[in-house]
Amino acid sequence: MKIILKDPLDMHLHLRDGEMLKITAPLSAKYFSGALIMPNLIPPVTSIEQVESYKKRILQAIGENVFKPYMTLFFKDSYSYEFLKEAKKHITAIKLYPAGITTNSEGGVSKIDSFSLKEVLEAMSELEIPLCVHGESEGFVMDRESEFLSVYEELAREFPKLKIIMEHITTKDAVNLLEKYENLYATITLHHLYITLDDVAGGLLRPHLFCKPIAKRPEDRMALRKAAFSAHPKVMFGSDSAPHPVSKKESLGCAAGVFTAPIALQALCDLFEKADVLDNLQKFVSDNAKNIYSLTPPKKEVVLVKEEYEVEERFGDVVPMFSKEKIGWRVESVL
Ligand code: DOR
Ligand code: ZN
Repeated sequence: MKIILKDPLDMHLHLRDGEMLKITAPLSAKYFSGALIMPNLIPPVTSIEQVESYKKRILQAIGENVFKPYMTLFFKDSYSYEFLKEAKKHITAIKLYPAGITTNSEGGVSKIDSFSLKEVLEAMSELEIPLCVHGESEGFVMDRESEFLSVYEELAREFPKLKIIMEHITTKDAVNLLEKYENLYATITLHHLYITLDDVAGGLLRPHLFCKPIAKRPEDRMALRKAAFSAHPKVMFGSDSAPHPVSKKESLGCAAGVFTAPIALQALCDLFEKADVLDNLQKFVSDNAKNIYSLTPPKKEVVLVKEEYEVEERFGDVVPMFSKEKIGWRVESVL
């Protein structure tokens, strides 16, 4: 059995910088046509100069591969209309992090509501710049996303023309919210389609599956699968592939993030095929994102075959999801 995926897109990707970028960028660029690049570097990407120089470093790191990095800015409530008007030419979206909620988000926003962020969000709405949000409260870890849903509702209601993307959703309540507001969209990761909290902490602790938002309950995973498997038009694949060196994962104080970029398409084929919905994968990994963001990425065709392959143990000093395990599909060629 074979499938050809056209112009795969990863609409939520952490590539990092420096030596790590040199490992990660070619791995995504090999199989994907493009990706939305997250701005949580140290320091975060908050100026047009930083966007452009980061983009240049990414393009250098991908080598010969054809790949479009769709850049983002790290949300600041101090951005002016004039700045955003200029920035729009250089970016695809702006990513909003609650302060301190995850890796390198200390410079995020401490008060997220429609009143405090009115000026920037009105400007983004008028300029048609999508807002990507890491939607978690500061509450109990399993409830953080659910508690944040009222914030999504308020923003969606108050700024009806602003495209809001609920990033890496993990709960059935978030899936349900898609139906309530026209301007709400979502990304779903590979790992949240695969795992629940049981896989992370139900037996021996598995640090390489620890991420934010934490994986939730079986019924939540079921709702995510239902949305992805049916290629819900408001849902896109966003891997949230988030590499950390092995020393930061297998350590006291494990960093949050699952590294999935090099195995994402193979594992998605496996999952979709087993659910007998392989025909819907094209929409989930590309078409929906093209429609939602109005993108025309470079052409790429990834041919995958149903043949077992063993996942590499490490890429540089990063351990991928399914390290040394077998996946039922492999990439045969990229055209
Ligand atoms: O698990 C995560 N890792 N979640 C995030 O939101 C950020 C990411 C990272 O940058 O490491
Ligand atoms: Zn992320």
